[in-house]
Amino acid sequence: MTDISSVARLSEPLKFAYWVPNVSGGLVVSTIEQRTGWDFEYNKKLARIAENSGFEYALTQTRYAASYGADKQHEATSFSLALLAATERLKVISAVHPGMWHPGVLAKYIITADHISNGRAAVNIVSGWLKDEFTNFGLEWLEHDERYVRTEEFIKVLRGLWTEQEYSQSGKYYNITDFTLNPAPVDVPGRAHPEIFFGGNSTAAQATAGRVADWYFSNGKDLEGFKENIAGVVASAGEVGRAAGRGSGAGLPSRSSSHLPALPSPRFGLNGFVIARDSEKEARDTLREIVEKAHKPAVEGFRAAVQEAGASTTDGKGMWADSSFEDLVQYNDGFKTQLIGTPEQIAERIVEYKKIGVNLFLTGYLHFQEEVAVFGQDVLPIVRELEADLARKNGIELDLSQTPVANVEVAA
Ligand SMILES: Cc1cc2nc3c(=O)[nH]c(=O)nc-3n(C[C@H](O)[C@H](O)[C@H](O)COP(=O)(O)O)c2cc1C
Repeated sequence: MTDISSVARLSEPLKFAYWVPNVSGGLVVSTIEQRTGWDFEYNKKLARIAENSGFEYALTQTRYAASYGADKQHEATSFSLALLAATERLKVISAVHPGMWHPGVLAKYIITADHISNGRAAVNIVSGWLKDEFTNFGLEWLEHDERYVRTEEFIKVLRGLWTEQEYSQSGKYYNITDFTLNPAPVDVPGRAHPEIFFGGNSTAAQATAGRVADWYFSNGKDLEGFKENIAGVVASAGEVGRAAGRGSGAGLPSRSSSHLPALPSPRFGLNGFVIARDSEKEARDTLREIVEKAHKPAVEGFRAAVQEAGASTTDGKGMWADSSFEDLVQYNDGFKTQLIGTPEQIAERIVEYKKIGVNLFLTGYLHFQEEVAVFGQDVLPIVRELEADLARKNGIELDLSQTPVANVEVAA
């Protein structure tokens, strides 16, 4: 049994997101049959299934060049905007590379997306690992930790332009002078501005997320591994006055506020590849088949490319630094989270992660449309029961008032 961490929020229901398959080849680098499309029509239907299955968020991937076989890719911000326009409740998080965008242009783009979607736009700021994407575009490729220096400035500009008027910021990478973006983002209760997610695993990533991100997103991890990441982010957040468990994310100061007000503490999102089957054996057999049919040259090529990530840091920690061949078959280490088994087993595991402080699961599947619906129908109701039990045992009520409910008949 896992101890309950001081950062766990037992009254808040877990949130669920799915990876938008906007790059070809699905989420596993394997020749196993995958009924997952990467085109817009497939994704439009998937998004509607997801929002009717109790999912609150979708996350797009930003990729400009093939790697690990994903040889066709749709651009993330335009794809996200189209998905927002095609849905009613789903929040779509667009992945963005600071080195590819000016933060002022992105801030403006996301405000427009926010208005089109009535306050459902969000961003995932990713600092990048695929060197060729930058160098072959003629863009500067910064050393690992320096990328996070730029990312931190980038996020400050975004938040500044979204919350203040006549905003100025001068730094190493960006200089903004007396800028006011009109209109401001949509005024959504409980949200100060479009949410800022942040993806990364290394020590520098954790430190940066702790200082400036609303959400820290991690690749798949086992319980002990993710506890370490949470501790790293919490320590950094504490240094800038974002104490663990402090604030709810609601009631953040808005535009008229003074320069960079203290932020509520970051929340935590974890990637996991879900294989829910009627029996544990069936689920394990599926995992075995995925790995046996791995596309070996693509996985090996990917292993070489990701040396620019965690392995390139001074402490050698970070994304993919300790990933085995099997782990890399799901290129965001999703097997490590072990959401594999019957719906009951998966729900139990999910709630163990809630105890250590996970607030959101970012999920991937072999056959997205079918399995997202199954997740909503079979796994989510058990998660909610277990969460309610856990809260009650600790003298707290689970507050489901803001949580999307599954509308399974529509989803199916
Ligand atoms: C949830 C999540 C989503 C990510 N999405 C992307 C993406 O769409 N495109 C990309 O180039 N990198 C993406 N990344 C990778 C980050 O850009 C970063 O390069 C990676 O975390 C390695 O950095 P690190 O060693 O500092 O952890 C993502 C990372 C996470 C955790």
